[in-house]
Amino acid sequence: MNGAGTFYVTTPIYYVNDKPHIGHAYTTLACDVLARFKRLDGFDVKFLTGTDEHGQKVEKSAEAFGVSPQALADQNSANFRELAQILGCTNDDFIRTTEARHKVACQALWDKLVAKGDIYLGAYEGWYSVRDEAFYAEDELVKGEGGAKLAPTGAPVEWVKEPSYFFRLSAFQDRLLQWYEDNPDCVAPNSRRNEVMSFVKGGLQDLSVSRTSFKWGIPVPGDDSHIMYVWLDALTNYITALGYPDTAGDFARYWPNTIHMVGKDIVRFHAVYWPAFLMAADLAPPKRVFAHGWWTNEGQKISKSVGNVIDPLSLIETYGLDQVRYFLLREVPFGNDGDFSHRAMIGRMNSELANDYGNLVQRSLSMIGKNCGGALPAHSPDSDDDKAMLGAAYAMLAKVRESMDRQLYHEAIETVWVVIRAANAYVDKQAPWALKKTDPARMGTVLWVLAETIRCLALLTQPFIPAASSRILDQLAVAEGERGFAFFGPDHPLKEGIALPAPQGVFPRHVEEASA
Ligand code: MSP
Repeated sequence: MNGAGTFYVTTPIYYVNDKPHIGHAYTTLACDVLARFKRLDGFDVKFLTGTDEHGQKVEKSAEAFGVSPQALADQNSANFRELAQILGCTNDDFIRTTEARHKVACQALWDKLVAKGDIYLGAYEGWYSVRDEAFYAEDELVKGEGGAKLAPTGAPVEWVKEPSYFFRLSAFQDRLLQWYEDNPDCVAPNSRRNEVMSFVKGGLQDLSVSRTSFKWGIPVPGDDSHIMYVWLDALTNYITALGYPDTAGDFARYWPNTIHMVGKDIVRFHAVYWPAFLMAADLAPPKRVFAHGWWTNEGQKISKSVGNVIDPLSLIETYGLDQVRYFLLREVPFGNDGDFSHRAMIGRMNSELANDYGNLVQRSLSMIGKNCGGALPAHSPDSDDDKAMLGAAYAMLAKVRESMDRQLYHEAIETVWVVIRAANAYVDKQAPWALKKTDPARMGTVLWVLAETIRCLALLTQPFIPAASSRILDQLAVAEGERGFAFFGPDHPLKEGIALPAPQGVFPRHVEEASA
């Protein structure tokens, strides 16, 4: 730890009515990359993911499967836990909203909102979408086929009329607007912040926060004919995991530096309702809510009924974990929508990983193996080309850090690839293979400059492609304890004479199987 501070990153908690798909994998990976980056950069990190297990949607799915909601939740929550493992995620906790600690936190938050006078009993009459678990006003609805009323997301809606507790959301309009004004980065990208601000400027209605027509949820304290609205329950997970209602300990440590990663469809819950609940409870809103875009599959909207849902596990089986991690974060500027296609996936894996990065590492290390007796050569980098190469390598961290702090993953990767390409050009120009006979000392310098450049590259690619980066660092004999960013740069260079293991290829090429 270098005293850099704390960092708390969360994924949305996933509904257990469904199997994990690429959308879940995407947010979880984005969080993992950020968590790994911050840890390597000396931060005390907490990374949370988990499952959202209550609500009408889960209750209905369980009914359709003929199992209890708890049984469905147990089974599907395990799938999400396993997905995080298969993705190589370094989450520090996995929360389930059916856990006792969560019930305690939700009920404490509820009591606090009641004590503050921000929850009152009334009756709800209006539209509800079970698929979105959201209430909609008449003027938000759109017309579907045959004139049926649909939520703006295309989900079916039903008319609901029942007693309900309300949260005084309308009272938070000014405070929310002030928060967006004072914190230009609290909702990102900026387009989402504008969208949220104009929604709030349009006026806020009080929010129904309890239901009486089904049972699968957390009972309202003192009135168990009501269960809490699933979004109030779900959002609270982020503070349950920090030990709320205890606001000392982990809460005090991590909450001030929180980033919630979410898909663009759930921004309103995270950037309007959630900060309002927190303000009402005298807690600070999160530092940032970052909304990423949605993936399509070969140009088509992904949907169960079309049958084109992308299974992250089969992608990993086909292309490899590092390759999938790299592709998802490289292909699309984070925040934009993106399209998954096999062609694009194979293109990036073969040209950027195997050709650019893989060849650089392979040819540099095998020349050291063959021509320098397998040990890091003596060196005295002094040509302008040497200095430019090392200068470019050492300058990467500051730039990458800046991009990562804005969640611009594609930009961070591009910064690294500029140096990979420059290093390939440096090998071509210096032609170390030809120096073996004419100037072996110069050959040693060139190969060392390459090895040192690769060390810097591999340190920085660790968060994105951890397995391959670790194998590259192994091949450079970089000790486990020297892989943090404190070791990046000219103060901890590779040392002459260190023996290196025999080099091995790290990035396989994908070869399409010939069709029979
Ligand atoms: N349970 C709520 C979140 C509660 S957080 C307090 C929920 N769960 S979900 O299982 O539906 O989550 C889905 C997540 O996957 C959302 O962030 C959503 O944006 C994301 N995606 C779903 N389909 C997607 C794509 N096709 N592409 C990218 N992400 C997508 O919402």
